[in-house]
Amino acid sequence: MRKLLWLSIFVSLFVFSSVIPSTFAAPLPKDKAPEIASYTATMIIAGRGVVAKHQDLINDPNKGNKGFTPEYVEKQMLDSFEKITGKNITDLDPEVQKVLRQVIDAAKMSVQMNQARINQKGKGFKMYIPAVFGRETGQILKAHTDIAIKQTTFKYRNAYNQPDDFEKKVLKQFERPDYPMGKGYGEFINGRYRYLKPIYIRQACLKCHGEPKGALDISGHKKEGYRLGQLRGAISVSFPVK
Ligand code: HEC
Repeated sequence: MRKLLWLSIFVSLFVFSSVIPSTFAAPLPKDKAPEIASYTATMIIAGRGVVAKHQDLINDPNKGNKGFTPEYVEKQMLDSFEKITGKNITDLDPEVQKVLRQVIDAAKMSVQMNQARINQKGKGFKMYIPAVFGRETGQILKAHTDIAIKQTTFKYRNAYNQPDDFEKKVLKQFERPDYPMGKGYGEFINGRYRYLKPIYIRQACLKCHGEPKGALDISGHKKEGYRLGQLRGAISVSFPVK
């Protein structure tokens, strides 16, 4: 077990340092910041959707190799992105495309790191859920670039996702009944562009985040008691601009 741990640390370090080209601290063009941030959040939402859609496959105890590979996920993410936005990423501005590529590469790395878990036979629920995928993708991206992506909410399960002051302010705005559903919000602050896109409770979320409030879900967490369509939180994107 320990050998495996070291091996995975070694492999992760190797992969981390080679796959995503290092563009650390490179500011992005200010005039394109709103576009970059919004599409980046959408790409994360697309990826989360792919992981959500494949939960039955991922959690199938009778199947070993699931074919849920980084390349498969990439294709699914691009398809879903196109469905949501009506755009293929190659139609977008090169600066936007470059960031979306980095997001996809980070997502693929998360899927790669979890292959053993995903392909484990004889085990049902594997905890490779949209939130874990999204958190890891954000963490990997942050390790290679100066782009920070976070899934945040007031009712966080994982302390990593807790909102900072700016995120709290925007989440409060999203909660207002007159706020247009799905609309993102961004601001330039201290040399960075900060942006949040709201995410809502869908049918598939209820079994873990729905009612009865306080009952344990399959992951062992207490359900929050959300109802269909309620604001769950936001995808938060932040990067330096020039
Ligand atoms: C199988 C149970 C399960 C399902 C289904 C599920 N979630 Fe979660 N969700 C979790 C767990 C567990 C976490 C904490 C993950 C972590 O450690 O980062 C979480 C975390 C989150 C977070 C990050 C904030 C936090 O609480 O730390 C968001 C946002 C979120 N879920 C939204 C959703 C949405 C939207 C859906 C439906 C599309 C959904 N979840 C479906 C179990 C689930």
